[in-house]
Amino acid sequence: MKGFHKLTSTISLTLSILFLFGCNYEDVSAVPTTHLCRPDQRDALLQFKNEFEVLNSSVIYNRCINPLGNIESWMNNSDCCTWDGITCNPKSGEVIELDFQCSYLGGRFHPNSSLQNLHSLTTLDLSQNYFSGQIPSSIGNLSLLTYLDLSFNQISGQIPSWIGNLYNLTYLDLSENNIFGEIPSSFGNLNHLTSLSVGRNKLTGSLPITLLNLTKLSYLELNFNHFTGTIPPNITSLSNLTKFYASYNAFTGTLSLCNIPSMDTVVLSDNQFNGILEFGNISSPPKLRVLDVGNNNFRGPISGTISKLTNLVDFDLSHYNTQGPVDFGIFSHLKWLEYLGLSHLNTTTTIDLYDFLSYFKRLDALDLSGNHVSATNTIPVSDPPLLNWLHLSGCGIAKFPEKLVKTQHIGNLDLSNNKIKGKVPGWLWTLPKLVYLNLSNNTFTSFENSTEHGPKHRASMMYLLASNNNFTGKIPSLICDLDFLYTLDLSNNNFSGLIPRCLGNLKGSLLDLNLRQNRFHGGIPENIFEYLRTLDVGHNQLTGKLPRSLLKILVLRSNAFHGPIHHTSFPKLQIIDISHNHFNGALPSDYFVKWSAMSSLGTVDDQPGEMYMGDPYYQDSLVLMNKGLGMELVRILKIFRALDFSGNRFEGEIPRSIGLLKELVVLNLSNNAFTGHIPSSLGNLTALESLDVSKNQLSGEIPQELGSLSFLSYMNFSHNKLTGLVPGGTQFRRLNCSSFDGNIGLFGPSLEEICRDIHMPRPYETPESEEEVLSWIAAVIGVVPGIAFGWVIGYILFSYKPEWFINPFVRSKHRRSSTRTH
Ligand SMILES: *[C@@H]1O[C@H](CO)[C@@H](O)[C@H](O)[C@H]1NC(C)=O
Ligand SMILES: *[C@@H]1O[C@H](CO)[C@@H](O)[C@H](O)[C@H]1NC(C)=O
Ligand SMILES: *[C@@H]1O[C@H](CO)[C@@H](O)[C@H](O)[C@H]1NC(C)=O
Ligand SMILES: *[C@@H]1O[C@H](CO)[C@@H](O)[C@H](O)[C@H]1NC(C)=O
Ligand SMILES: *[C@@H]1O[C@H](CO)[C@@H](O)[C@H](O)[C@H]1NC(C)=O
Ligand SMILES: *[C@@H]1O[C@H](CO)[C@@H](O)[C@H](O)[C@H]1NC(C)=O
Ligand SMILES: *[C@@H]1O[C@H](CO)[C@@H](O)[C@H](O)[C@H]1NC(C)=O
Ligand SMILES: *[C@@H]1O[C@H](CO)[C@@H](O)[C@H](O)[C@H]1NC(C)=O
Ligand SMILES: *[C@@H]1O[C@H](CO)[C@@H](O)[C@H](O)[C@H]1NC(C)=O
Ligand SMILES: *[C@@H]1O[C@H](CO)[C@@H](O)[C@H](O)[C@H]1NC(C)=O
Ligand SMILES: *[C@@H]1O[C@H](CO)[C@@H](O)[C@H](O)[C@H]1NC(C)=O
Ligand SMILES: *[C@@H]1O[C@H](CO)[C@@H](O)[C@H](O)[C@H]1NC(C)=O
Repeated sequence: MKGFHKLTSTISLTLSILFLFGCNYEDVSAVPTTHLCRPDQRDALLQFKNEFEVLNSSVIYNRCINPLGNIESWMNNSDCCTWDGITCNPKSGEVIELDFQCSYLGGRFHPNSSLQNLHSLTTLDLSQNYFSGQIPSSIGNLSLLTYLDLSFNQISGQIPSWIGNLYNLTYLDLSENNIFGEIPSSFGNLNHLTSLSVGRNKLTGSLPITLLNLTKLSYLELNFNHFTGTIPPNITSLSNLTKFYASYNAFTGTLSLCNIPSMDTVVLSDNQFNGILEFGNISSPPKLRVLDVGNNNFRGPISGTISKLTNLVDFDLSHYNTQGPVDFGIFSHLKWLEYLGLSHLNTTTTIDLYDFLSYFKRLDALDLSGNHVSATNTIPVSDPPLLNWLHLSGCGIAKFPEKLVKTQHIGNLDLSNNKIKGKVPGWLWTLPKLVYLNLSNNTFTSFENSTEHGPKHRASMMYLLASNNNFTGKIPSLICDLDFLYTLDLSNNNFSGLIPRCLGNLKGSLLDLNLRQNRFHGGIPENIFEYLRTLDVGHNQLTGKLPRSLLKILVLRSNAFHGPIHHTSFPKLQIIDISHNHFNGALPSDYFVKWSAMSSLGTVDDQPGEMYMGDPYYQDSLVLMNKGLGMELVRILKIFRALDFSGNRFEGEIPRSIGLLKELVVLNLSNNAFTGHIPSSLGNLTALESLDVSKNQLSGEIPQELGSLSFLSYMNFSHNKLTGLVPGGTQFRRLNCSSFDGNIGLFGPSLEEICRDIHMPRPYETPESEEEVLSWIAAVIGVVPGIAFGWVIGYILFSYKPEWFINPFVRSKHRRSSTRTH
């Protein structure tokens, strides 16, 4: 951080000097060469540059392949037309292009930004920086703009309707910001537009009819917003549309995949379209190569017209509720498919895997999860396609599909939720490309050693998920040889013994370790803490002291850890659950002072990029058994903060410094021996949604400050020695009377109101036992589906394919064919 400030101030200083002497520059230098750059343009540029910060590129994560960010040239007393990112009109010397893509720039836009003085700009690209604030109105003066790209920033506010006055725009990209509100109807004026992207914002409303005016549009991207309403049938008036992305919205209605002959890509997954998916009349095979309509509410038979879409390469119909038999033969015409997603069709038909695969020549990714699949054909096709990605979760499979899997190509294999028994075959560890292996929820009993001789396996495995099986005994040492292992989930088995020290060999790669619900005993080897990001060893028989660590998630729930914990600080911790152990002692009042990650979201570590990089593969999900607190998975690593110290023997006062943990969402201190008052600093925890201090020895009043915490929807103060007036906020009036049980002298209108009908529980109160309501568990759910390493890194870093950031591996393929290029 220090370096970063230093850099910025050096630049500002240099710039001010330049700026002061700028006017005299030509005289002073007395160089006869004529500069193309016009002084007014240079001044506007330098002024613009002063409006933002340049961030330290070695601290900030950036997605860019070739970050420009070379601002050095801007400080040189040279022709501004030669500066990085600047193009001038060769005759007039006016700046016509400003390309600041990936330049590590940050700061709020100035509404009156000096950009407006660059009247001749036709291209403005500020994408992939850290700009915030609203779209500056000065851009509205740049009437010659044809290309405007503000994507991948932190821009907020609404889309100004004056954008509709930039008639000359052919390319407009506002995607990946925090923009809300509706698309202004003035967009209907932009009839030179060929490409419009507003994906990944918080836009609402329906698809404006005026957009149908944009007949030159060939690329339209609306995905990851909150759009509602239907897609009107006359979208066919966009007769030049080739790529249409609208997934992850709330579009409804039926869909007739209309005949726009130019259409190449249609991605409408994860909406609420319903009815039967219609294809209209198709005479000749359409050009359509990518069709993703998975995860909607389609219902009924699958149209046989599908067999005419013979140019399809990527096809996803997942969660199409067929409610009956399916003729899988209709897919036999789609010979060029590379990706096929047919998961969860709710069909009674069993798919004969080897027969089915014989239809395809190029298939390399297949998802048949949630259907009945038979993989027992004894005379498999001579050459099954060389699959890289195979998801057969919940297919009723009883035998390892060896013939398909034991290839040099397999990279991503999901066999979870099946009935496979016995040993995990040893040859798996020798497959050179296998990156992701999910064996969860079968009845495997042991891991077979590698069949390959020699000291090291050639394992490439990054994700090994084997929870919910029947494994027993010690963790096999072969796991410590998986040099690239990133995530290991062996939870819910019967493993026993010590947690092997050799897991420490994986430092540098292992980030997430879940050994929850086994029978491990002993301590946690100190050496595994160095690099781990999340650790869940809840529900074992582990002992020892609270470790120091740099984890983000630490779950020690239900073990036999003991001792006082006052010497530990957790700067990175976002989630800590040390409940149901034997920790004791008092916590000093400044105990939480250095818990930075819970005090603020904006640490250097949490740069925007991390939303994607931090963990695109593996979402650590918290199952909050807290009524009504639906926590979205996505929030976990990014923003979720929780602290659970319940069920220990802590005593003394609740540290006042708890009020510093401003981002805390869940706080549970119940079932300890805390005494004294509830600190009023809790009133500073504005993000808090759940607070439990029940079953302690707390006295005094419930701080009135809690009445103003607007997100607080669950509180429990029962079984203490509290007295006085219960705060009056609406949150308090929605509580269950039992939240105040067993205190000495609480009173007040809110209490009377909720305890009036004490014997008639309200319909919406779930009658869970107190223990369940209070408890939360961190269960680590692997949702990952990865693919070959090269692809992973390559695509995460270098492609901006919209669909994909939430969980890049859900669909392996259409990112390939539809990666957006500039
Ligand atoms: C950028 O940050 C790195 C790491 O903190 C530091 O070593 C470097 O000096 C900084 N660079 C500048 C120019 O401040
Ligand atoms: C400034 O320009 C001169 C020549 O035009 C060049 O040699 C020098 O490297 C430049 N300095 C910087 C910091 O870019
Ligand atoms: C924009 O307005 C602010 C005050 O509102 C002023 O401080 C700033 O200098 C102005 N910037 C430009 C580029 O005119
Ligand atoms: C569009 O650009 C042309 C020059 O390319 C210019 O003459 C025209 O005025 C611009 N249109 C608008 C509405 O500014
Ligand atoms: C559609 O474009 C025409 C110009 O081609 C324009 O006159 C009209 O106002 C636009 N309609 C809407 C609804 O924006
Ligand atoms: C349709 O788009 C193509 C490129 O995708 C372009 O070459 C063609 O000119 C466009 N046609 C119209 C009418 O805009
Ligand atoms: C499209 O259909 C809607 C009704 O669904 C209608 O209001 C609108 O005028 C039509 N637009 C065009 C361009 O046909
Ligand atoms: C699945 O299909 C059956 C009919 O075969 C139907 O009764 C059932 O409701 C469907 N399941 C879902 C979740 O719609
Ligand atoms: C485990 O797999 C079975 C099918 O074999 C499925 O019914 C069950 O829901 C799965 N359990 C979990 C926790 O996924
Ligand atoms: C697997 O190999 C390790 C050494 O590589 C050996 O210690 C272990 O006993 C073997 N396990 C089995 C089940 O063969
Ligand atoms: C797996 O373990 C469960 C409980 O531990 C047991 O009921 C079941 O019979 C075991 N299954 C197999 C195939 O061993
Ligand atoms: C709440 O936070 C503010 C500053 O953010 C601080 O001044 C105040 O003392 C805090 N209140 C309590 C009760 O800790």
